[in-house]
Amino acid sequence: MDNSKLSGFYRKSPAERLEIIRKMAKLTKEEVGILEDTGSLGMETADMMIENVVGTSELPFGLGLHFLVNGKEYAIPMCIEEPSVVAAASFAAKLARPGGFETSSDDPLMIGQIQIMGFDDFEKAKESILKNKEKIISKANGRDSVLIGLGGGAKDLEVRKIDSELGNMIVVHLLVDVRDAMGANAVNTMCEEVAPFLEDLTGGHVRLKIISNLADKRLAKAKAVWGKEALEYSTKGLVRGEEVVDAILEAYHLAANDPYRCATHNKGIMNGIDAVVIATGNDFRAVEAGAHSYAGISGKYTPLTKYYKNEEGDLVGEIELPLAVGIVGGATRTKPEAKVALKILGVKTSQELAEVMAAVGLAQNFAALRALATEGIQRGHMRLHAKNLAVTAGAKGNEVDQVSGRMIEEKKISVSRAKDILEEIRRHS
Ligand code: MEV
Repeated sequence: MDNSKLSGFYRKSPAERLEIIRKMAKLTKEEVGILEDTGSLGMETADMMIENVVGTSELPFGLGLHFLVNGKEYAIPMCIEEPSVVAAASFAAKLARPGGFETSSDDPLMIGQIQIMGFDDFEKAKESILKNKEKIISKANGRDSVLIGLGGGAKDLEVRKIDSELGNMIVVHLLVDVRDAMGANAVNTMCEEVAPFLEDLTGGHVRLKIISNLADKRLAKAKAVWGKEALEYSTKGLVRGEEVVDAILEAYHLAANDPYRCATHNKGIMNGIDAVVIATGNDFRAVEAGAHSYAGISGKYTPLTKYYKNEEGDLVGEIELPLAVGIVGGATRTKPEAKVALKILGVKTSQELAEVMAAVGLAQNFAALRALATEGIQRGHMRLHAKNLAVTAGAKGNEVDQVSGRMIEEKKISVSRAKDILEEIRRHS
């Protein structure tokens, strides 16, 4: 690619950029059309959200159903490209009824980190910071009257000593209640605001001033009980509910003791959570970073869920993870589908949103474990996968079901087989 043509790309309009990239990548008219079709977001909004915009990218928007959370019914928007995720979550939620999910969450408290270097004595610096705690907090709160008006704002601070290869560092944690926001902007601004004062107090110099995505003071929890009768499984001969409960527990204990399995276990949880995070316009990278760092906080990488049997022999599942998500600010308001998603969901606070997400994560994980412990996940997965491959092969309308149906029957699921079947169908019609 001739990069000289790209200089000043960011200053051009999306249409001009498209023209440049069309020539450089030799895009066809149809391919340019794909980029120009910007859906409900629109090119203008997209261009305001990020840099160098030439189009938008879409994902299916599905609804996770049958969720009863703290006695309230939810239809849960989920945006994801992976087949079976929405169906699996809905199925797990259905099996968890009539009890549904019980959830709880911490106040929306985020941590802002301020790194201080070049001080003389840690204990003296710490003492000086703690003595001036109220002043630091009031400086942090000096600018954000909206957040303070809502009952949020900086509430407390902690002083930590970090030993490093470069010597000792002080890290001040500013604890900020961000109310219904994800909070990164508010927290980062506050950290920058108090930095000069911290330098005066410690005689050191401040380096980093940034939010921590390990939001372990903003945890969401969910719990559900799956009755053993509901777990009876009968596709290939009857498997008793008790056996399914035991098989799920075996699957869970592998995750609890093996990082290779645990990574996949937690990935399955995040399949559901990310889908809701994306649907509601939240920052899925922040949520992922928080989830996995929390999973490893003890020094051992562990599952975000846990399972055990209650006295009746039913399966109890629990989840706990940091969920830094908001219902105001950022893409939750600029992305039109995110606004609609939040309206469908009907959550009133960021905490309610986090709790619903925790329930979805637990449901998703239960569904995966149940499938893995019984029939394996490929049977359910393959149906939708076959449809995807049929579409990739060029099938349209009715052809999609015909092609995917034949592939499943034959147990040969691939794009090349889909192409052959499609050709055959078209030849005969
Ligand atoms: C696939 O996206 C997710 C699973 O692998 C999760 C799991 O194994 O628990 C099915």
